[in-house]
Amino acid sequence: MVSEERLVAGEADALERAAEAALRPRSLADFVGQERVREQLAVVLDAARARERAPDHVLLCGPPGLGKTTLAMIIAAELGQPLRITSGPAIQHAGDLAALLSGLAEGEVLFLDEIHRMARPAEEMLYMAMEDFRVDVVVGKGPGATAIPLELPPFTLVGATTRAGLLPGPLRDRFGFTGHLDLYAPDDLRRIIVRSAGLLDVDLRADGAREIAGRSRGTPRIANRLLRRVRDYAEVRAKRVVTGPVARAALEVYEVDALGLDRLDRSVLDALCRLFAGGPVGLSTLAVAVGEETETVEEVAEPFLVRSGLLARTPRGRVATPAAWAHLGLAPPRSVVALAPSLFDEEDAAGGAPRGR
Ligand SMILES: Nc1ncnc2c1ncn2[C@@H]1O[C@H](COP(=O)(O)OP(=O)(O)OP(=O)(O)O)[C@@H](O)[C@H]1O
Ligand SMILES: [Mg+2]
Repeated sequence: MVSEERLVAGEADALERAAEAALRPRSLADFVGQERVREQLAVVLDAARARERAPDHVLLCGPPGLGKTTLAMIIAAELGQPLRITSGPAIQHAGDLAALLSGLAEGEVLFLDEIHRMARPAEEMLYMAMEDFRVDVVVGKGPGATAIPLELPPFTLVGATTRAGLLPGPLRDRFGFTGHLDLYAPDDLRRIIVRSAGLLDVDLRADGAREIAGRSRGTPRIANRLLRRVRDYAEVRAKRVVTGPVARAALEVYEVDALGLDRLDRSVLDALCRLFAGGPVGLSTLAVAVGEETETVEEVAEPFLVRSGLLARTPRGRVATPAAWAHLGLAPPRSVVALAPSLFDEEDAAGGAPRGR
């Protein structure tokens, strides 16, 4: 099972990104949740508008599907400027970046998605462009090569990354403002779902919205995706009205449970509890038991299980928490309850970050 096929994956494929475009909030006022980032960004933008200058460069960090691209578009819209879009993997040579930068007009917003995946030489060019609005374009090769300085108009770079830790310090430091997006609270997700239902013309009742929100793993992209699946179900099985029970029945069909766990997540927990008495068990043993690659278990299933407090990564192996036993409707063996606190003391608080095996 690969993550792209999962109903609860944070990432989106091209088809889904097209469907998402219709649901994107277009202004800061329409952007639900993330109060702190929204307020901070509002100040940055207001100040820039008052000064009639391009605002400082903005870096947006956070897991997939939380609204980084959406915010980049909103920043450009709020400034009344076009948004130029590119991404780290598209910039493999400094020349790619030079071409982009030299094409910018004054005040334009350049969105550099997945900025952590940009090639090193381009990164160094970007430092200078961000700080001095200048790039050196190298003409020719070998000893005869010369660097021609090129002035750039003031522009605003909006960088986005799911892996802030991979950004070199000098790059991070050149952003005047960094917004950290966190997983959304259930009530924010509920508001997003209600808003999307309005746009999609879905007859959604309050308990239906709550039901979907609770299973969305803190992620607007997943919330919108589950809403589309529930809408399908309601159209063919429930007279088009999405109530709580209808949403629950629909998501049971898609095997997304009350916490937003899917079949893969549950099979990992299930093996951990039933086959290994709650652990500790090594990652590779656990992977074999569920018939998946170790990478799939570690990178696809575990981050959310850890974040939800259902699974712990300890130096001695994976361990099911008491909450995991409760979620599976099983009684934890006494030894696990007694053992648990000492194991969790050693746990890596960073949670989502992949660890050594
Ligand atoms: N705060 C929000 N309010 C309403 N809808 C939101 C919000 N944040 C995200 N969304 C919706 O969730 C979907 C995904 O958002 P977006 O594409 O901005 O995520 P992303 O952080 O750029 O993800 P990725 O890391 O995969 O590029 C979009 O359809 C967007 O409309
Ligand atoms: Mg994005």
